[in-house]
Amino acid sequence: MKNKYFYINTIGCQMNVYDSDNIASSLVSLGYNKTDSYESADLIIINTCTIREKAKEKAFSFIGRLNKLKKKNPDLIIGVGGCVAQQEKEKIFTRMPHVNFVFGTHTISNLPDIIKKVKSGKNKIIDVQFTSNIHENSNFTNFVPEQAVSKFITIMRGCENYCTYCVVPSVRGKEISRKPDAILKEINYLVNSGVKEITLLGQNVNSYGKKENLCSFPRLLSMVNDISKLKRIRFTTSHPKDLTEGLVASFNLLDKLCNHIHLPVQSGSNKILKKMNRKYTVENYLNKIDNLRRVCPDIAISSDIIVGFPGESISDFNETTALIKEVEFDGLFVFGYSDRQNTQASSFPDKLPEKEKNRRLNTLLDIQEKYSRKKNSALINSVQHVLIEGLSKKQKTAKSSNGFLQWTGRTSSNKIVNFEVKNNIKFNDCYKVGNIVEIKIEKAFNNSLKGVPLHR
Ligand code: SAH
Ligand code: SF4
Ligand code: F3S
Repeated sequence: MKNKYFYINTIGCQMNVYDSDNIASSLVSLGYNKTDSYESADLIIINTCTIREKAKEKAFSFIGRLNKLKKKNPDLIIGVGGCVAQQEKEKIFTRMPHVNFVFGTHTISNLPDIIKKVKSGKNKIIDVQFTSNIHENSNFTNFVPEQAVSKFITIMRGCENYCTYCVVPSVRGKEISRKPDAILKEINYLVNSGVKEITLLGQNVNSYGKKENLCSFPRLLSMVNDISKLKRIRFTTSHPKDLTEGLVASFNLLDKLCNHIHLPVQSGSNKILKKMNRKYTVENYLNKIDNLRRVCPDIAISSDIIVGFPGESISDFNETTALIKEVEFDGLFVFGYSDRQNTQASSFPDKLPEKEKNRRLNTLLDIQEKYSRKKNSALINSVQHVLIEGLSKKQKTAKSSNGFLQWTGRTSSNKIVNFEVKNNIKFNDCYKVGNIVEIKIEKAFNNSLKGVPLHR
């Protein structure tokens, strides 16, 4: 029998990356093989995101392009999942009639059944109901990640914070945490198949376990820290309102916890933070930053900002600029406010024109560029522990001409480091994917560092 191939297009956040791993493991259990070219696939899944309009349009534009393929090959199966699917439900079929099935953010575990139905001739299957329990995917162990050094793992689903601009609560449902045993079992499986670093995921990871009275998030971190073959732990995303002293202390107490935190502030104006329903003030936020830097002086801090929220005046925007200058983030993601269905902010007055949102966005990016470079330059001449992720992009496309190989990896503070090592037997044992090596930093750029191995 001819081999069958699947292709998954993942758009959106790390949670979708994790969900796509689970989707892949389901498809492997159905006898499909993975392909990196969608043109040669028998089954294509689009795992979608609707956090901003642009993300949603990206999904529709890809699905639209598949129409041609489907005409050439009527047996091609196309499925749409993720947050656009959860939001649009059967409307997906109206806009994209060549789609065979639509599944939601809570129904990934039903995929084998859905696909069997499609194969038996049923079309336009829709399965988007919310469930109140977390289904532990028993298929997970079918799919061994290909030489992955670093993996994401979702520890909780949904969100109940209802930030007024955000679509996540309506497409991911109520907050629910997975049991520590299930999480530890999955991490152990990943580590035994070669993974060295894991990132614990949740829309608001620091409220892990609270609702169900499971263990606290710092306690979970400490249990993960005890997994002997694991080298590094990261987590994202933290909500400033739930960043407790216990969690801050973990950065000091747990040797595997990386010294980086992503702590989205969203705005530097208390008026706007209130309208966003973020439940903290600029002063609270700055206090948390002080605490983090006191406990862990070399911690890297990154953040998200939304510019052009409804009613954001020039003076509100200037307050955001001032905050960025005060904190000096290591990295910053800036987004123009985007109206989302069923969110409170979508009905707020005083929307800003696209042009002004873009102007504010570029202003912040220009300011941030200076700080990113400053933070990176401060590392020149330091020795960093770098977890090797693979050959650098440059090396992958070019053959080594000088007998050296260029590798890429990350520091504990999540900065990308490229470095060259002589390609010979003496070094190949030390400098390989998954090892942590000492690199002396020589050059700093906006988004990466360059260094030389300490032991040559
Ligand atoms: N749960 C996380 C991240 C949510 S989505 C948190 O609370 O921080 C990632 C980022 O997308 C958000 O931090 C926010 O900056 C941005 N975002 C969310 N909704 C948006 C919208 N409607 N318009 C523009 N940016 C948005
Ligand atoms: Fe959205 Fe706010 Fe929840 Fe983050 S915390 S997912 S921004 S509602
Ligand atoms: Fe997007 Fe859904 Fe993640 S909307 S950001 S894929 S939770």
